[in-house]
Amino acid sequence: MSEQATVDQSNIDRINKVTERLILSSEKKSMSTLHDHPWNLEILEPPYLKKKERISIYGTEFWDKATPEEIQKLSQEEMITWWSAFVHLESLVVEYYMKELNNGAFDDLPLVRDYMKHFIKEELVHTLVFKKAIRYYNSDIYPMPDFLRTFYDDNAGTGQYPLMAVFLTMVIEWIADEYQRLDVDADYVHPMAKAVVQAHWKEEMRHIKWGQQMIQNLIDSDPTFKQQAQELTAVYLRQLVDQGITNIDCFEKIGFQDPAFQDHERLLDVILYSEHRQQLNDQLVMPSIHYFVKSGIYHPDYHDIWVMQGFERVINKALAKGQN
Ligand SMILES: [Fe+2]
Ligand SMILES: [Fe+2]
Repeated sequence: MSEQATVDQSNIDRINKVTERLILSSEKKSMSTLHDHPWNLEILEPPYLKKKERISIYGTEFWDKATPEEIQKLSQEEMITWWSAFVHLESLVVEYYMKELNNGAFDDLPLVRDYMKHFIKEELVHTLVFKKAIRYYNSDIYPMPDFLRTFYDDNAGTGQYPLMAVFLTMVIEWIADEYQRLDVDADYVHPMAKAVVQAHWKEEMRHIKWGQQMIQNLIDSDPTFKQQAQELTAVYLRQLVDQGITNIDCFEKIGFQDPAFQDHERLLDVILYSEHRQQLNDQLVMPSIHYFVKSGIYHPDYHDIWVMQGFERVINKALAKGQN
């Protein structure tokens, strides 16, 4: 265990206050596997699960090389990719936090311990709902992305609380839900996809809020975590944003007719670095960037890393706003 500083009671009070509110909110309303989605709704025509402007190939030369049917299928498979990632991640979340809870990780914070029980139950329901939604659209779950396999082993705690795990879980939840929320934001997106995303978003808002409070109030209890978070967050964020855009397996599954789609390296290159995608990325990360600046996760000593990872525009914007 690394060096530890004691946490001020005022920080613990703040965590308790927020956690208590979140528990009450969870008790009042949390997602059901049966009642919060229109499971009986018939699919009458090929559904769009994603807003066109947010489909990976939009704004690139590949858009004109795809047929309307292929584009519709891509909108479906890219959404299913996200839902698959949720099933995998949230299963790990359930396993990891259940283990931490059983090992007494939060025994000195009884409200947090109670909150964990709600959190774990909610994530468990989410995995069931996502699986059910994938079946509803007659699709198949995609395999677990490589970086998730050892996610909680690679990010073991360095202090009294498992802050790196709490932090990265929160960052992933935040970026993932921001993606989803923006992806379904169009009238023509199929109502089931909207319901799945919106019901999830409501609960994830609680999880994100809790993670933010834990980090902000406990960061000084674990100098090793603090330093690692300051140094590595830009790198994690870059990977997360880029991996969220698409999944090459989708293209394989759809089997695009135009041979240009066979060159996966070039396809990814064009998609990741298009002008259009840069704008979508800026919009996607802006809320979390403000938080990183406000909470001290962004530190001027590591400014170059943020620049190198392509976040110069958004960081400068957030810094300028902070100075007003
Ligand atoms: Fe979830
Ligand atoms: Fe969550």
